[in-house]
Amino acid sequence: MAKQTTPDNLSAEQIAHYREHGFVHIPNIINPEEVVEFYDVIYDFAEAKRKSEEEHASVRDSEVFTQIVNFWHEDEGIKRLTLHPNVGGVAEKLAGVPLRIWHDHMLIKQPHNNAPTTYHQDQPFWPHGESPNSISAWIALCDVPVEKGCMTFIPGSHRYTDLAPQSTRDGDKLFDLCPELTWEKRVTVPLKAGDCTFHHSRCAHMATPNDTDDPRVAHIIIYMDQTTTFSGKKHIVTDPLALEAGVLLDGDMFPAVNDFPKL
Ligand code: SIN
Ligand code: NI
Repeated sequence: MAKQTTPDNLSAEQIAHYREHGFVHIPNIINPEEVVEFYDVIYDFAEAKRKSEEEHASVRDSEVFTQIVNFWHEDEGIKRLTLHPNVGGVAEKLAGVPLRIWHDHMLIKQPHNNAPTTYHQDQPFWPHGESPNSISAWIALCDVPVEKGCMTFIPGSHRYTDLAPQSTRDGDKLFDLCPELTWEKRVTVPLKAGDCTFHHSRCAHMATPNDTDDPRVAHIIIYMDQTTTFSGKKHIVTDPLALEAGVLLDGDMFPAVNDFPKL
């Protein structure tokens, strides 16, 4: 059986790749038993929310994807994955600083959705004073070949730190804002179930459409620097918390990786 990648066996090359290019492919971040368990947890939860009549700002069902944001604190199964110490431990080693949870989201591309997630950086959407080392783990809970909606990255684009937000459904916005990125090479990363990619929050990325008969099920865990403060900008994760601009984003909703349950 293929070896799990852990904070202890993560190689210097993998860390260097992440820091140089802004993303890295990490095989077997969770083990095969966990893949089976978490596929059901995530898919069943997301489908129930998608089909529920209840209007909820954190549930978005569009042609691009079904996106369910930040429910880990309401469900023990999701919590076990979002606060997974192996994933958090590897994220911290790649980032090189202490991290805490910003939020998670389930992203399901429905069969034959016919719509890519278009090029964007994540960070410009967030209400963060500064979180220069924020990083996402994009975990494949099923095999995700190119045809099923895997991620493509623009290596080195994490060095562009002042771009305005770019829509996930408007393919040209990133390149309008930053024409030179048009000519950078792009790297597409198909993943086996249990693998993940980590990407820096400013590394530009897109995902291909799902052209298969089955859903593409991914769970994304986003970590931020432990020192991140709230900027005051609107965001569905912080709006219900009524925080004052400038406060540290800490407490129960934003647990530190070093406080995660041990394996
Ligand atoms: C996707 O999986 O469709 C997009 C993921 C992301 O934008 O981080
Ligand atoms: Ni993104």
